[in-house]
Amino acid sequence: MLCVGIEGTAHTFGVGIVSSEGEILANVSRAYRPPEGGIHPREAARFHAANAKAVLDEALTAAGIRLSDVDLFAFSAGPGLGPCLRTAATAARALAARMEKPIVGVNHCVAHVEIGRLLTGAVDPVTLYVSGGNTQVIAFDAGRYRVFGETLDIPVGNCFDVFAREVGIPFPGGPNIERLAREGKRYIPLPYVVKGMDLSFSGLMTEATRKYRSGVDLRDLCFSLQETAFAALVEVTERAVAHIEKREVMLTGGVAANGRLREMLGMMAEEHKAKFFVPPMEFCVDNGAMIGWTGILAYEHGVRQELEETVINQRWRTEQVDVPWRE
Ligand code: ATP
Ligand code: FE2
Repeated sequence: MLCVGIEGTAHTFGVGIVSSEGEILANVSRAYRPPEGGIHPREAARFHAANAKAVLDEALTAAGIRLSDVDLFAFSAGPGLGPCLRTAATAARALAARMEKPIVGVNHCVAHVEIGRLLTGAVDPVTLYVSGGNTQVIAFDAGRYRVFGETLDIPVGNCFDVFAREVGIPFPGGPNIERLAREGKRYIPLPYVVKGMDLSFSGLMTEATRKYRSGVDLRDLCFSLQETAFAALVEVTERAVAHIEKREVMLTGGVAANGRLREMLGMMAEEHKAKFFVPPMEFCVDNGAMIGWTGILAYEHGVRQELEETVINQRWRTEQVDVPWRE
């Protein structure tokens, strides 16, 4: 079976083509980049609509198949930005209707975990999913993917991006902060917020910005921002590992590119005698292949949706997702 997966929860419009054997035949993405400031959902959606056909065509060509070879269409049904989700869903519905093939809506967060399991060989990991739009510690427990900890305000990638913008670090914020942090020499205390199993990064962002304005060295601040944010992320992930006694840790999302976070999380995993996995970056960031693969898992385990049932859900929570393929 061949599945076309369409991702469109935020900046990225992606099309992946995946087989039921887990082979990725194509994975093509284009990302909307706002001219300045943060993301404008309607502008991003317009970008997705304008690029949908080109990205699909490119994916079909890369896979060496025709649209008529496709057996299933999957799309990111949430969580994400309403206008973006609607655009991806509309594209998938149009294709499924025209080709008279089944369609399934996929949860974006669960898809990050599933593509990671497919590509790294991790079987049952505690996953730290960290990006510009999400920060969650996820693990499978009692028949569902559960969120063991998450941010109560802004995601960690957003914390980095906004800080970068406020202090004039050029786009992309994350990688540039990482580069500057390597030259930092001094740890400046910043708000470290872990509440139970949950996290908060807005106070950290505000205080780091304030310290910059009062003249603190930017390299020291980048270093301290990373150390503080990552220590909190590692603490919560570690508690999940200890509590549910998993032997695997996986890191994914755009922030997984960060070498320091990999190092810190890897050390924690080693202390717990857990294996540590990071998928290739192409599959850590938002991508169509993860939607296609999760669509296949769902369909092959009996998930069916009529066209009119393929609604989006901006706030679709990870633990609300049925995962018959893992039971
Ligand atoms: P999602 O829809 O999953 O929330 P996204 O739209 O944020 O995804 P991604 O490409 O997955 O897109 O992630 C981008 C985020 O990753 C940005 O916040 C960026 O700053 C962060 N990032 C990228 N590289 C690094 C790095 N080296 N260090 C820290 N953060 C990074
Ligand atoms: Fe994502």
